Amino acid sequence: MSPNLNVPLGTYLDTRKKIIDEALERYIPGEDNYPPVIFKALRYSLFAGGKRIRPILCLASAEAVGGNIESILPVACALELIHTYSLIHDDLPAMDDDDYRRGRLTSHKVFGENMAILAGDALLTKAFHLMSDRGLTEKIAPEKLISVIHDIAAAAGYFGMVGGQVVDVQSEGEAVDTEVLNFIHTRKTGAMITAAVKAGAVLANAGEVELNALTSYGRHVGLAFQIADDILNVEGDQKLMGKGTGSDTKRGKVTYPALVGMDASRKKAGDLVEGALSAIKNFDHRAEPLRMIAAYIIERKA
Ligand code: IPE
Ligand code: IPE
Ligand code: MG
Ligand code: MG
Repeated sequence: MSPNLNVPLGTYLDTRKKIIDEALERYIPGEDNYPPVIFKALRYSLFAGGKRIRPILCLASAEAVGGNIESILPVACALELIHTYSLIHDDLPAMDDDDYRRGRLTSHKVFGENMAILAGDALLTKAFHLMSDRGLTEKIAPEKLISVIHDIAAAAGYFGMVGGQVVDVQSEGEAVDTEVLNFIHTRKTGAMITAAVKAGAVLANAGEVELNALTSYGRHVGLAFQIADDILNVEGDQKLMGKGTGSDTKRGKVTYPALVGMDASRKKAGDLVEGALSAIKNFDHRAEPLRMIAAYIIERKA
């Protein structure tokens, strides 16, 4: 399963996405379980075609320091479960009130708010169930695994994604400065992306210098990712993105384009990618996927 580093980025991402999708399919129970609606609802959102960028980053980070991806697939997939939960809840009427996600009607539109909330809850809890499976310690040192689970829990919680989402919704329609904007973006999106990169590195036994470099890479691409999301909300193609555009302006969301304008947003995202590349400049060819992904994060159309 080692990556062929000479393939174009699109092929690399597709191959990785397939590995992750197949693993998720193995970990997540089918709709023949009881009560069927919860499995139906969570699978509806999970298998709707997300980019899988967090698990892909986790695997790529492990490989950048010579790790093997097979043993860390459950952790990589857990990141996607947490991410999918966050999207379902983010789209709820009480949050961003969005109708489309991953090219489909949002969970609450199809299953009702109660089931959408529960599907999110089930995905979040399944992530920790999966990562704490005893079988994982056959291939991963228990102290490494615990440290990664601890880190991911922190990134998903009040000092991470949840904290960012709180300030995001509180700031709707408010005049905020770039400090608040950066707080929101580095928490709501950056924290889980950084945790994904760090998790791969720790599980692949990265040394301290490598871990610091990869963490810095994660912070840079994490913020760049959300700035790109802000830009796409203004000028992206709804069909390609599978979700609505123009909604940030309508809801008075705090975004980079709203605060600093389009040109400065693009410049900032570009600078962050440069920063990410510079953080891993001493890595060898095994970090090539990370380098390609950094560029992709701001060039993507979806
Ligand atoms: C969307 O994330 C929400 C943000 C944190 C910006 P992605 O752009 O990774 O969405 P999917 O997983 O591909 O649907
Ligand atoms: C999503 O941020 C962040 C999380 C889901 C934690 P946004 O609300 O900006 O993302 P989209 O544009 O709905 O995907
Ligand atoms: Mg939101
Ligand atoms: Mg949203």
